[in-house]
Amino acid sequence: MIHLNEVLFLFLAGIIITIFRLSSYKPQPFFSSKPFLNNFNLNFFNLDFFNLNFFNNTSTTQASSHLKHTNTQKIQDINTLADCHEIASRLSELIRKDGAGSWPPNTNHLSTTWPASLRPYKEIYTEMAPLLPAAHASLDDNINHQIISSFRSRFRQLLSEKVNLDEVTSLLSAAASGRWDVFPRDTYNAFYSCLAWCRHAYRWASIPVVSLAQREDALPLPRELVVPWNKMQAHFQLASDSGNNMSNLVLNFNNSGEYQYKINTGLSQKIVSSEGEFTKIFYEVETLAVPIYHAMVRSIVAFARENKKECLRYVREVNDKLRPLLGAYYESVHESKIKRDVWLSRVQGFYAWGMTGEERDVESQELIRFDGLSGNQVLLFQALDAYLGMEPYLTREVMDRNVPGLQRGFVDSLGRFCFRGLLKDGCGEDGEIKGEMLEIVKRMRVFRSAHRTRAKVYLSVPAPERMPMTAGKSLLKDDSVGGIDFLDQFMVKRLQQTV
Ligand SMILES: *[C@@H]1O[C@H](CO)[C@@H](O)[C@H](O)[C@H]1NC(C)=O
Ligand SMILES: *[C@@H]1O[C@H](CO)[C@@H](O)[C@H](O)[C@H]1NC(C)=O
Ligand SMILES: *[C@@H]1O[C@H](CO)[C@@H](O)[C@H](O)[C@H]1NC(C)=O
Ligand SMILES: *[C@@H]1O[C@H](CO)[C@@H](O)[C@H](O)[C@H]1NC(C)=O
Repeated sequence: MIHLNEVLFLFLAGIIITIFRLSSYKPQPFFSSKPFLNNFNLNFFNLDFFNLNFFNNTSTTQASSHLKHTNTQKIQDINTLADCHEIASRLSELIRKDGAGSWPPNTNHLSTTWPASLRPYKEIYTEMAPLLPAAHASLDDNINHQIISSFRSRFRQLLSEKVNLDEVTSLLSAAASGRWDVFPRDTYNAFYSCLAWCRHAYRWASIPVVSLAQREDALPLPRELVVPWNKMQAHFQLASDSGNNMSNLVLNFNNSGEYQYKINTGLSQKIVSSEGEFTKIFYEVETLAVPIYHAMVRSIVAFARENKKECLRYVREVNDKLRPLLGAYYESVHESKIKRDVWLSRVQGFYAWGMTGEERDVESQELIRFDGLSGNQVLLFQALDAYLGMEPYLTREVMDRNVPGLQRGFVDSLGRFCFRGLLKDGCGEDGEIKGEMLEIVKRMRVFRSAHRTRAKVYLSVPAPERMPMTAGKSLLKDDSVGGIDFLDQFMVKRLQQTV
């Protein structure tokens, strides 16, 4: 049975990529040539949509540092509103706690400054990372069995030699009781990401993911990877064995925006850079989203104060800031940045999980199967849907597994304070706000349909070493074309719901 999130994975993860170098940008012809787009108002496809000069002369780092600066001001403004309105206090709390004071969250990946008991994990990452990828995937189960067992056995040995689990546990207990002085939140964030890498590396043991590992239904992980993970999952109010979009992607960058825990260490430039480009988009989207979160909050506060003029100004800003962000996706999801053959077999598989844990479903008593990362966990898209009064596209259960509690709280409150349905028709300010919101909806529709096209391209690449799957779910039907068609139908449905 395929779940919702399997498919939504395609919206984003299927596609994705990096953002910032736009100098060589040309609109991609596939947009206008796809028949399914005929149902849409093609006016969206005016060039304005692709006017991405915002980043025309900035390296990633320059752009990030500029954005960080304006983001800091936005965050300060949100903090000052925290006493005035619940929506601002929710966002402010999310940033202060999970963000360690910033957004995207602050992380301290400099492991020499970590509490001593945590440092072995980083050392083990450093030793194991080069052993994870194989230059050529074997199709032979016996060979793969050998590779996987030896990787795991070395991993277990290092964990048991180096990690003092009691010390790690008491450190995490200290944090759980609010002792953030001994375990600062930015270090907590970085360690969470390191641990998530270790777990996914142990689970797959070989990249490309091979079908032998996919067929494992349950795998006991070493205690050093289980005990701290469970505590951290409890902290973030998450119920999954698998990593999530935050742990594996967003927190996997240091404060200068450098990618830390890698999948394809030591392989060719083509592979390494495709992985880097893919990963980076999650961090950069979150960077570009800060002004959008800010404008959403501001518009809700203005609406509550019955200041329609200001409300309109901020709704417009949501729309304006969305343009470069979505444009960045379009620009990046491209063969020149992310090689299709590389993405499917060398990047995407790592983020999957596809195993049951120890927990059972309350009703059916069946073991719960945890899926893995999915682009649909991206905070911004959930936030926008809630803001626009659309139904959440992830089930509550999937949210509880993959989207941290404070993010869920923010999204819930966006939905609660949604004012779109309260606007009057007509040509007054209400009508203008309504019109602006409709523009946002249209933009999202275009985005979703474009993603659908690209996702199919990226997922249709042959990968004989494994069974078809997307990270957000486990396995597709054996027949990959049938599976992709199924996902496609799901995406069409989502598109129809974007109104
Ligand atoms: C970047 O875009 C802006 C706005 O279109 C333009 O004024 C500026 O000259 C561009 N800079 C470069 C280096 O292309
Ligand atoms: C682009 O930025 C670099 C570094 O800030 C600067 O030296 C260069 O002159 C800029 N180029 C253009 C065309 O503005
Ligand atoms: C981020 O990581 C890069 C390389 O991994 C390093 O050179 C840089 O100093 C780090 N920045 C911070 C703020 O830790
Ligand atoms: C998933 O990645 C996006 C990248 O922008 C990030 O913003 C989002 O917060 C991540 N996921 C979750 C669960 O929040």
